[in-house]
Amino acid sequence: MSTQVQEIKEAARRLRANEVVGIPTETVYGLAASIDSPEGIRRIFEIKERPFFDPLIVHISSFDQIKDIAAYDANETTETLIKQFWPGPLSILFPKHAKLNTMITSGLDTVAIRMPQNQIARDIINATGTPLAAPSANKFSKTSPTRYAHVKESFPDIFVVDGGPSVVGIESTVVQAFEDGTIKILRPGIITEVDIRNCFSANVRIEKVSSLASPGNITHHYMPDVPLILCTHVDPYHAIERYAHDTNTFFHNPYELILDSDSRVAARQLYQNLRDIPKNCDILYFRLPHSKDEIWDSILDRLQRAASFVY
Ligand code: TXA
Ligand code: MG
Repeated sequence: MSTQVQEIKEAARRLRANEVVGIPTETVYGLAASIDSPEGIRRIFEIKERPFFDPLIVHISSFDQIKDIAAYDANETTETLIKQFWPGPLSILFPKHAKLNTMITSGLDTVAIRMPQNQIARDIINATGTPLAAPSANKFSKTSPTRYAHVKESFPDIFVVDGGPSVVGIESTVVQAFEDGTIKILRPGIITEVDIRNCFSANVRIEKVSSLASPGNITHHYMPDVPLILCTHVDPYHAIERYAHDTNTFFHNPYELILDSDSRVAARQLYQNLRDIPKNCDILYFRLPHSKDEIWDSILDRLQRAASFVY
């Protein structure tokens, strides 16, 4: 048996025994528990230090699992989204099944579901035999993990399956489709408004909701270990000078966060580069790219939350 097959089996064994396990997905690594394990679900919130009001995404490996999680009256728009984007980095809200543990949904009457593209993630779900609830595998408000080592750094005691670097690099797009055909984007991601628009007729109504509609969308999220300054219209030298003045601090070792000009590559680099800063760096800055597309908007959404200040 290959090491990977053994690791998948071991992960499933632990998940069935109510443990929390780190799993790779194409977006970021997740901290998973079986949806049938109240103990495991509670443990996710505890070790992540995540407030119970912030609901978890349920990950599935086959379409027939939906009926056990959602009160399945998926509208036509939702059906189209499923056909077009699953498996993949899109989480879709459904009305919640009455028997689904309310801790997963933080008492909301909807549940977010996603079928990951990553084969190892789907193999783990299959081997466990139940869908898995999994938030990103970082401590609450900290930078999301895109590598095995990132998860181990935050949670040294949990079992993590190594699936290599996450190929997307930012969390899934979260959407909700309504009976009247309106689609709300609750969290931006690599699947963009244009991607969604392209699979409907031109007059589909898509709304971007950048608010607490997705309770995890709080400011001060994804924070690196040193302050991050976003330089939008002020040059880095002056931005840092202003931040130093405003906070009454002196910074000795500024470091520039560099991301590729290709937004898909930049998304993949984001969380690694936010961690990969020299030991002696005491302030991080990022210059806004000159040309932007929708994926850049999703990256900037994360950077804005990670930033201590935007100048
Ligand atoms: O790519 C991803 O989605 C990753 C991987 C592991 O799948 N997971 C992830 O989970 O990013 P998490 O918990 O870090 O973020 C889930 C987001 C949160 O902002 C949460 O508030 C929102 O999804 N969410 C979950 N259920 C929801 C619901 N019923 N209504 C509104 N927002 C919901
Ligand atoms: Mg998260």
